[in-house]
Amino acid sequence: MENVRHLTGFGNEHASEAVAGALPVGQNTPQRVAFGLYAEQLSGTAFTAPRGVNRRTWMYRLRPSAGHPAYRPVESRTLRSGPFREVPPSPNRLRWSPAPMPTAPTTFLEGLFTLGGNGSPAEGAGAAVHLYAATASMTDTAFFNADGELLIVPQSGTLRIVTELGVLEVPPGHVALIPRGMRMRVELPGGPARGYICENYGAAFRLPELGPIGSNGLANPRDFVAPNAAYEDVERPTRVVQKFQGNLWETTLDHSPFNVVAWHGNYVPYTYDLARFNTVNTVSFDHPDPSIFTVLTSPSDTPGTANCDFVIFPPRWMVAEHTFRPPWFHRNVMSELMGLVHGVYDAKADAFLPGGASLHNCMSAHGPDRKTYEAAVAAELTPKKIDNTLAFMFETRWVIAPTRQAMESPALQADYDACWADLPKAKVPSKAGGQP
Ligand SMILES: [Fe+2]
Repeated sequence: MENVRHLTGFGNEHASEAVAGALPVGQNTPQRVAFGLYAEQLSGTAFTAPRGVNRRTWMYRLRPSAGHPAYRPVESRTLRSGPFREVPPSPNRLRWSPAPMPTAPTTFLEGLFTLGGNGSPAEGAGAAVHLYAATASMTDTAFFNADGELLIVPQSGTLRIVTELGVLEVPPGHVALIPRGMRMRVELPGGPARGYICENYGAAFRLPELGPIGSNGLANPRDFVAPNAAYEDVERPTRVVQKFQGNLWETTLDHSPFNVVAWHGNYVPYTYDLARFNTVNTVSFDHPDPSIFTVLTSPSDTPGTANCDFVIFPPRWMVAEHTFRPPWFHRNVMSELMGLVHGVYDAKADAFLPGGASLHNCMSAHGPDRKTYEAAVAAELTPKKIDNTLAFMFETRWVIAPTRQAMESPALQADYDACWADLPKAKVPSKAGGQP
Protein backbone atom coordinates (compact mmCIF):
# COMPACT_ATOMS: atom_id res chain seq x y z
CA MET A 1 0.00 0.00 0.00
CA GLU A 2 3.00 2.30 -0.14
CA ASN A 3 2.91 5.46 -2.07
CA VAL A 4 6.12 7.16 -3.13
CA ARG A 5 4.58 10.60 -3.42
CA HIS A 6 5.44 12.85 -0.54
CA LEU A 7 4.15 15.96 1.13
CA THR A 8 6.39 18.96 1.68
CA GLY A 9 6.67 21.89 4.05
CA PHE A 10 7.59 22.15 7.73
CA GLY A 11 4.54 22.83 9.88
CA ASN A 12 2.12 22.65 6.98
CA GLU A 13 -1.43 21.37 7.27
CA HIS A 14 -0.95 18.17 5.30
CA ALA A 15 -3.67 15.78 4.18
CA SER A 16 -3.27 12.30 2.74
CA GLU A 17 -5.38 9.25 2.04
CA ALA A 18 -4.24 5.82 0.90
CA VAL A 19 -7.77 4.94 -0.23
CA ALA A 20 -9.88 7.47 -2.12
CA GLY A 21 -12.73 8.76 -0.01
CA ALA A 22 -11.24 7.72 3.35
CA LEU A 23 -10.49 11.26 4.51
CA PRO A 24 -13.51 13.21 5.77
CA VAL A 25 -14.10 16.52 4.04
CA GLY A 26 -15.06 19.64 5.95
CA GLN A 27 -15.02 18.10 9.42
CA ASN A 28 -12.90 15.82 11.60
CA THR A 29 -15.39 13.46 13.21
CA PRO A 30 -18.38 12.59 11.06
CA GLN A 31 -21.02 10.45 12.74
CA ARG A 32 -19.90 7.59 10.53
CA VAL A 33 -16.43 7.75 8.96
CA ALA A 34 -16.04 6.22 5.51
CA PHE A 35 -15.57 2.42 5.54
CA GLY A 36 -16.19 2.36 9.30
CA LEU A 37 -12.74 3.84 10.00
CA TYR A 38 -12.11 5.21 13.47
CA ALA A 39 -11.24 8.90 13.88
CA GLU A 40 -8.45 9.53 16.43
CA GLN A 41 -6.66 12.74 17.24
CA LEU A 42 -2.98 12.78 18.23
CA SER A 43 -2.25 16.01 20.12
CA GLY A 44 1.39 17.09 20.19
CA THR A 45 0.75 20.37 21.99
CA ALA A 46 -1.81 21.51 24.54
CA PHE A 47 -5.16 22.25 22.91
CA THR A 48 -4.68 25.91 23.73
CA ALA A 49 -1.09 26.33 22.50
CA PRO A 50 -0.73 29.43 20.32
CA ARG A 51 -1.82 28.79 16.77
CA GLY A 52 1.70 29.16 15.34
CA VAL A 53 3.04 26.27 17.42
CA ASN A 54 -0.13 24.21 17.85
CA ARG A 55 0.40 20.67 16.54
CA ARG A 56 -2.13 17.88 16.12
CA THR A 57 -3.08 15.28 13.55
CA TRP A 58 -6.33 13.47 12.85
CA MET A 59 -5.95 9.82 11.88
CA TYR A 60 -8.57 7.52 10.32
CA ARG A 61 -7.65 3.96 11.19
CA LEU A 62 -8.84 0.35 11.02
CA ARG A 63 -8.96 0.16 14.80
CA PRO A 64 -8.54 2.84 17.47
CA SER A 65 -5.26 2.82 19.42
CA ALA A 66 -7.27 2.51 22.64
CA GLY A 67 -7.88 -1.18 22.04
CA HIS A 68 -4.80 -2.62 23.73
CA PRO A 69 -4.01 -4.80 26.76
CA ALA A 70 -2.08 -3.36 29.70
CA TYR A 71 1.57 -2.43 29.24
CA ARG A 72 4.14 -4.24 31.36
CA PRO A 73 7.68 -3.05 32.11
CA VAL A 74 10.51 -4.49 30.04
CA GLU A 75 14.28 -4.31 30.17
CA SER A 76 15.78 -1.10 28.80
CA ARG A 77 19.19 -2.65 27.95
CA THR A 78 21.57 0.27 27.22
CA LEU A 79 18.84 2.88 26.87
CA ARG A 80 18.91 5.47 29.67
CA SER A 81 16.78 8.48 30.48
CA GLY A 82 16.84 11.71 32.43
CA PRO A 83 17.37 12.63 35.19
CA PHE A 84 21.02 11.68 34.53
CA ARG A 85 22.58 11.08 37.91
CA GLU A 86 24.50 7.80 37.51
CA VAL A 87 27.92 9.45 37.78
CA PRO A 88 29.04 12.98 38.69
CA PRO A 89 29.17 15.02 35.48
CA SER A 90 32.82 15.44 34.52
CA PRO A 91 34.16 18.91 33.66
CA ASN A 92 36.62 17.26 31.29
CA ARG A 93 36.53 17.33 27.53
CA LEU A 94 35.33 13.90 26.41
CA ARG A 95 35.59 12.14 23.09
CA TRP A 96 34.44 8.72 21.99
CA SER A 97 35.62 6.64 19.06
CA PRO A 98 32.90 4.93 17.04
CA ALA A 99 31.66 1.82 18.82
CA PRO A 100 31.89 -1.49 16.95
CA MET A 101 28.74 -2.83 15.32
CA PRO A 102 26.97 -5.55 17.31
CA THR A 103 27.81 -9.09 16.31
CA ALA A 104 24.43 -10.58 17.29
CA PRO A 105 21.26 -9.58 15.38
CA THR A 106 20.22 -6.28 16.93
CA THR A 107 17.33 -4.01 16.00
CA PHE A 108 17.28 -0.23 16.12
CA LEU A 109 15.34 -0.40 19.36
CA GLU A 110 17.62 -2.98 20.93
CA GLY A 111 20.76 -1.16 19.80
CA LEU A 112 20.07 2.19 21.48
CA PHE A 113 22.99 3.27 23.67
CA THR A 114 22.57 6.42 25.72
CA LEU A 115 25.62 8.65 25.87
CA GLY A 116 24.15 11.22 28.24
CA GLY A 117 21.67 14.01 28.61
CA ASN A 118 20.06 16.64 30.76
CA GLY A 119 16.66 17.50 32.19
CA SER A 120 14.06 14.77 32.30
CA PRO A 121 10.78 13.68 30.76
CA ALA A 122 9.04 14.57 34.03
CA GLU A 123 10.24 18.18 33.77
CA GLY A 124 9.46 18.41 30.07
CA ALA A 125 12.86 20.00 29.53
CA GLY A 126 16.27 18.84 28.43
CA ALA A 127 17.43 16.26 25.95
CA ALA A 128 19.18 12.91 25.77
CA VAL A 129 21.80 11.83 23.27
CA HIS A 130 21.69 8.25 22.09
CA LEU A 131 23.75 6.29 19.61
CA TYR A 132 22.15 3.49 17.64
CA ALA A 133 23.77 0.51 15.98
CA ALA A 134 21.46 -1.94 14.28
CA THR A 135 21.96 -5.05 12.17
CA ALA A 136 18.37 -6.30 11.91
CA SER A 137 15.03 -4.79 10.95
CA MET A 138 12.34 -4.51 13.59
CA THR A 139 9.65 -7.07 12.75
CA ASP A 140 6.14 -7.19 14.18
CA THR A 141 7.28 -4.52 16.63
CA ALA A 142 6.30 -0.89 16.94
CA PHE A 143 7.94 1.70 19.16
CA PHE A 144 6.80 5.07 20.36
CA ASN A 145 8.28 7.57 22.73
CA ALA A 146 5.95 9.29 25.18
CA ASP A 147 8.94 11.19 26.63
CA GLY A 148 9.86 13.35 23.67
CA GLU A 149 10.47 13.61 19.97
CA LEU A 150 13.34 11.87 18.22
CA LEU A 151 15.74 13.62 15.87
CA ILE A 152 17.55 10.78 14.10
CA VAL A 153 20.88 11.45 12.35
CA PRO A 154 22.01 8.40 10.33
CA GLN A 155 25.78 8.05 10.03
CA SER A 156 25.91 4.86 7.97
CA GLY A 157 23.18 2.71 6.47
CA THR A 158 19.74 3.79 5.28
CA LEU A 159 16.77 3.62 7.63
CA ARG A 160 13.31 2.85 6.36
CA ILE A 161 11.04 4.21 9.05
CA VAL A 162 7.47 2.99 8.94
CA THR A 163 5.26 5.42 10.86
CA GLU A 164 1.55 5.64 11.46
CA LEU A 165 1.36 8.34 8.81
CA GLY A 166 3.48 6.60 6.17
CA VAL A 167 7.00 5.56 5.31
CA LEU A 168 10.21 7.59 5.38
CA GLU A 169 13.50 6.66 3.69
CA VAL A 170 16.40 8.16 5.61
CA PRO A 171 19.91 7.68 4.23
CA PRO A 172 23.02 9.20 5.82
CA GLY A 173 23.09 12.92 5.09
CA HIS A 174 19.39 13.14 5.82
CA VAL A 175 17.71 13.39 9.21
CA ALA A 176 14.34 12.19 10.46
CA LEU A 177 12.17 13.99 12.98
CA ILE A 178 9.67 11.68 14.69
CA PRO A 179 7.05 13.41 16.87
CA ARG A 180 6.46 12.39 20.46
CA GLY A 181 3.93 9.56 20.59
CA MET A 182 4.16 8.61 16.91
CA ARG A 183 4.47 4.86 16.43
CA MET A 184 7.42 3.79 14.31
CA ARG A 185 9.18 0.67 13.06
CA VAL A 186 12.73 0.90 11.81
CA GLU A 187 13.84 -1.36 8.98
CA LEU A 188 17.26 -1.67 7.38
CA PRO A 189 16.79 -2.07 3.61
CA GLY A 190 20.53 -1.80 2.93
CA GLY A 191 21.94 -3.73 5.87
CA PRO A 192 23.49 -2.53 9.14
CA ALA A 193 22.98 1.04 10.20
CA ARG A 194 24.48 3.36 12.76
CA GLY A 195 23.86 6.91 13.86
CA TYR A 196 22.90 9.44 16.47
CA ILE A 197 19.64 10.49 18.12
CA CYS A 198 18.63 13.58 20.02
CA GLU A 199 15.65 12.75 22.21
CA ASN A 200 14.07 16.10 22.94
CA TYR A 201 12.08 16.26 26.18
CA GLY A 202 11.33 19.96 25.72
CA ALA A 203 9.44 22.10 23.24
CA ALA A 204 9.30 20.53 19.79
CA PHE A 205 12.02 21.36 17.30
CA ARG A 206 11.12 24.16 14.95
CA LEU A 207 12.90 26.26 12.37
CA PRO A 208 14.95 29.08 13.89
CA GLU A 209 14.03 32.73 13.39
CA LEU A 210 16.02 34.26 10.56
CA GLY A 211 16.26 37.91 11.71
CA PRO A 212 18.18 40.04 9.23
CA ILE A 213 18.91 37.00 7.05
CA GLY A 214 15.37 37.54 5.80
CA SER A 215 12.60 35.28 4.62
CA ASN A 216 14.81 32.62 3.01
CA GLY A 217 17.89 30.70 4.02
CA LEU A 218 19.31 28.05 6.33
CA ALA A 219 16.80 25.16 6.33
CA ASN A 220 13.93 26.19 4.08
CA PRO A 221 10.49 24.91 5.16
CA ARG A 222 9.61 23.39 1.78
CA ASP A 223 12.49 20.92 1.98
CA PHE A 224 11.00 19.04 4.93
CA VAL A 225 9.24 15.98 3.58
CA ALA A 226 6.32 14.22 5.27
CA PRO A 227 5.11 10.77 4.20
CA ASN A 228 1.98 10.00 2.30
CA ALA A 229 -0.61 7.81 4.00
CA ALA A 230 0.26 4.10 3.81
CA TYR A 231 -1.29 1.41 5.97
CA GLU A 232 -0.90 -2.26 6.79
CA ASP A 233 -3.93 -4.52 7.12
CA VAL A 234 -2.04 -7.14 9.10
CA GLU A 235 -3.66 -9.47 11.64
CA ARG A 236 -0.84 -11.03 13.59
CA PRO A 237 0.70 -10.42 17.00
CA THR A 238 2.63 -7.16 17.15
CA ARG A 239 4.62 -5.90 20.11
CA VAL A 240 4.15 -2.24 20.93
CA VAL A 241 6.96 -0.84 23.03
CA GLN A 242 6.82 2.61 24.52
CA LYS A 243 9.27 4.73 26.46
CA PHE A 244 7.36 6.35 29.32
CA GLN A 245 9.06 8.44 32.02
CA GLY A 246 12.38 6.84 31.29
CA ASN A 247 11.36 3.19 31.23
CA LEU A 248 10.32 0.85 28.47
CA TRP A 249 6.88 -0.77 28.62
CA GLU A 250 5.43 -3.32 26.26
CA THR A 251 2.11 -4.75 25.20
CA THR A 252 1.01 -7.04 22.38
CA LEU A 253 -1.71 -6.33 19.85
CA ASP A 254 -3.26 -8.92 17.56
CA HIS A 255 -2.81 -6.55 14.61
CA SER A 256 -0.44 -3.98 13.19
CA PRO A 257 -0.85 -0.48 14.66
CA PHE A 258 0.29 0.94 11.30
CA ASN A 259 -3.32 0.94 10.19
CA VAL A 260 -3.97 4.60 9.42
CA VAL A 261 -5.73 4.77 6.06
CA ALA A 262 -6.01 8.55 5.90
CA TRP A 263 -4.89 11.50 7.97
CA HIS A 264 -4.63 15.25 8.05
CA GLY A 265 -2.77 17.61 10.32
CA ASN A 266 0.49 19.33 11.17
CA TYR A 267 1.89 16.86 13.76
CA VAL A 268 3.83 14.68 11.39
CA PRO A 269 7.18 12.96 10.92
CA TYR A 270 9.64 14.56 8.53
CA THR A 271 12.81 13.80 6.68
CA TYR A 272 15.19 16.54 5.66
CA ASP A 273 18.17 16.32 3.31
CA LEU A 274 20.97 18.27 4.99
CA ALA A 275 22.41 19.01 1.53
CA ARG A 276 19.42 21.34 1.08
CA PHE A 277 20.70 23.53 3.93
CA ASN A 278 21.42 27.00 2.57
CA THR A 279 24.66 27.79 4.37
CA VAL A 280 25.30 31.42 5.28
CA ASN A 281 28.83 32.45 6.18
CA THR A 282 31.11 35.49 6.15
CA VAL A 283 32.14 37.13 2.88
CA SER A 284 34.45 39.58 4.61
CA PHE A 285 36.31 38.55 7.77
CA ASP A 286 35.93 36.63 11.03
CA HIS A 287 34.05 33.46 11.75
CA PRO A 288 30.39 33.98 12.68
CA ASP A 289 29.05 32.21 15.74
CA PRO A 290 28.06 28.67 14.78
CA SER A 291 24.42 29.49 15.43
CA ILE A 292 24.49 30.59 11.79
CA PHE A 293 24.38 26.86 10.99
CA THR A 294 21.22 26.07 13.04
CA VAL A 295 18.89 23.66 11.28
CA LEU A 296 16.28 23.25 14.03
CA THR A 297 15.84 24.68 17.49
CA SER A 298 13.93 23.61 20.58
CA PRO A 299 13.40 26.83 22.54
CA SER A 300 13.40 26.99 26.33
CA ASP A 301 11.45 29.47 28.43
CA THR A 302 14.38 31.92 28.22
CA PRO A 303 14.33 33.78 24.91
CA GLY A 304 17.36 33.00 22.74
CA THR A 305 18.60 30.26 25.05
CA ALA A 306 17.77 26.93 23.49
CA ASN A 307 16.69 23.80 25.25
CA CYS A 308 18.53 22.23 22.31
CA ASP A 309 19.75 23.39 18.91
CA PHE A 310 20.60 21.10 16.03
CA VAL A 311 23.50 22.67 14.15
CA ILE A 312 25.42 21.32 11.15
CA PHE A 313 28.83 22.01 9.64
CA PRO A 314 28.22 21.16 5.99
CA PRO A 315 30.39 21.61 2.89
CA ARG A 316 30.90 25.35 2.29
CA TRP A 317 33.23 27.93 0.86
CA MET A 318 35.66 29.69 3.18
CA VAL A 319 36.61 33.12 1.86
CA ALA A 320 37.34 35.16 4.99
CA GLU A 321 40.28 37.55 4.64
CA HIS A 322 42.91 38.14 7.37
CA THR A 323 41.02 35.64 9.51
CA PHE A 324 41.76 32.51 11.48
CA ARG A 325 39.28 30.34 9.62
CA PRO A 326 38.71 27.21 11.74
CA PRO A 327 36.34 27.34 14.71
CA TRP A 328 38.02 29.51 17.32
CA PHE A 329 39.10 28.68 20.86
CA HIS A 330 36.03 28.76 23.01
CA ARG A 331 34.50 28.46 26.45
CA ASN A 332 30.73 28.36 26.36
CA VAL A 333 27.90 28.53 28.88
CA MET A 334 26.02 26.21 26.54
CA SER A 335 27.04 22.55 26.31
CA GLU A 336 28.12 21.07 23.00
CA LEU A 337 27.80 17.46 21.86
CA MET A 338 29.28 16.86 18.42
CA GLY A 339 29.09 14.01 15.96
CA LEU A 340 30.44 13.37 12.49
CA VAL A 341 28.49 11.79 9.63
CA HIS A 342 31.38 11.72 7.17
CA GLY A 343 34.65 13.42 6.28
CA VAL A 344 36.78 15.53 8.59
CA TYR A 345 35.64 18.37 10.87
CA ASP A 346 37.60 21.56 10.23
CA ALA A 347 38.70 22.01 13.87
CA LYS A 348 40.03 18.49 14.36
CA ALA A 349 42.67 16.99 12.11
CA ASP A 350 42.75 13.61 13.86
CA ALA A 351 40.75 11.17 15.93
CA PHE A 352 37.29 12.77 15.64
CA LEU A 353 35.83 10.01 13.54
CA PRO A 354 32.56 9.34 11.71
CA GLY A 355 30.30 7.62 14.22
CA GLY A 356 32.28 9.00 17.15
CA ALA A 357 31.30 11.90 19.39
CA SER A 358 32.80 14.67 21.46
CA LEU A 359 31.38 16.48 24.46
CA HIS A 360 32.43 19.96 25.54
CA ASN A 361 30.29 20.82 28.50
CA CYS A 362 29.53 24.19 30.08
CA MET A 363 32.70 26.33 30.37
CA SER A 364 35.09 23.61 29.25
CA ALA A 365 37.88 25.06 27.09
CA HIS A 366 38.03 23.70 23.55
CA GLY A 367 38.97 24.66 20.03
CA PRO A 368 41.15 23.55 17.16
CA ASP A 369 43.82 20.97 17.86
CA ARG A 370 47.48 21.89 17.42
CA LYS A 371 47.77 20.49 13.91
CA THR A 372 44.71 22.44 12.77
CA TYR A 373 45.92 25.61 14.50
CA GLU A 374 49.36 25.51 12.92
CA ALA A 375 47.95 24.85 9.46
CA ALA A 376 45.41 27.68 9.83
CA VAL A 377 47.86 30.39 10.87
CA ALA A 378 50.20 29.40 8.02
CA ALA A 379 47.51 29.04 5.35
CA GLU A 380 47.34 31.23 2.29
CA LEU A 381 43.85 32.74 2.52
CA THR A 382 42.55 32.03 -0.94
CA PRO A 383 38.90 30.99 -1.33
CA LYS A 384 38.74 27.39 -0.28
CA LYS A 385 35.96 24.83 -0.42
CA ILE A 386 35.53 22.68 2.64
CA ASP A 387 34.13 19.64 0.93
CA ASN A 388 33.06 16.10 1.72
CA THR A 389 32.32 16.81 5.35
CA LEU A 390 29.24 16.73 7.53
CA ALA A 391 29.63 17.32 11.24
CA PHE A 392 26.82 18.35 13.56
CA MET A 393 26.21 19.57 17.08
CA PHE A 394 23.46 19.23 19.65
CA GLU A 395 23.91 22.39 21.72
CA THR A 396 21.93 22.78 24.91
CA ARG A 397 21.62 25.23 27.77
CA TRP A 398 22.12 22.50 30.38
CA VAL A 399 25.13 20.31 31.08
CA ILE A 400 25.02 16.99 29.28
CA ALA A 401 25.68 14.47 32.04
CA PRO A 402 27.23 11.31 30.62
CA THR A 403 25.85 7.93 31.59
CA ARG A 404 27.97 5.47 33.52
CA GLN A 405 28.20 3.22 30.47
CA ALA A 406 29.52 6.17 28.40
CA MET A 407 32.22 6.93 30.99
CA GLU A 408 33.18 3.26 31.21
CA SER A 409 33.02 2.62 27.46
CA PRO A 410 36.22 1.33 25.79
CA ALA A 411 35.40 3.84 23.05
CA LEU A 412 36.09 6.76 25.43
CA GLN A 413 39.44 8.21 24.35
CA ALA A 414 41.91 8.48 27.22
CA ASP A 415 44.19 10.96 25.46
CA TYR A 416 41.78 13.62 24.15
CA ASP A 417 43.41 16.42 26.17
CA ALA A 418 46.69 15.75 24.38
CA CYS A 419 45.48 17.40 21.17
CA TRP A 420 45.79 20.79 22.88
CA ALA A 421 48.79 20.00 25.07
CA ASP A 422 51.62 21.32 22.92
CA LEU A 423 50.23 24.60 21.65
CA PRO A 424 53.26 26.92 21.83
CA LYS A 425 53.32 29.97 24.09
CA ALA A 426 52.89 33.37 22.46
CA LYS A 427 56.03 35.52 22.39
CA VAL A 428 55.24 38.95 23.84
CA PRO A 429 58.06 41.53 24.11
CA SER A 430 58.91 42.09 27.78
CA LYS A 431 57.41 45.28 29.24
CA ALA A 432 59.85 48.08 30.26
CA GLY A 433 58.14 48.52 33.61
CA GLY A 434 58.11 44.87 34.58
CA GLN A 435 55.16 43.10 36.11
CA PRO A 436 52.27 45.15 37.47
FE1 LIG B 1 32.34 25.59 21.08
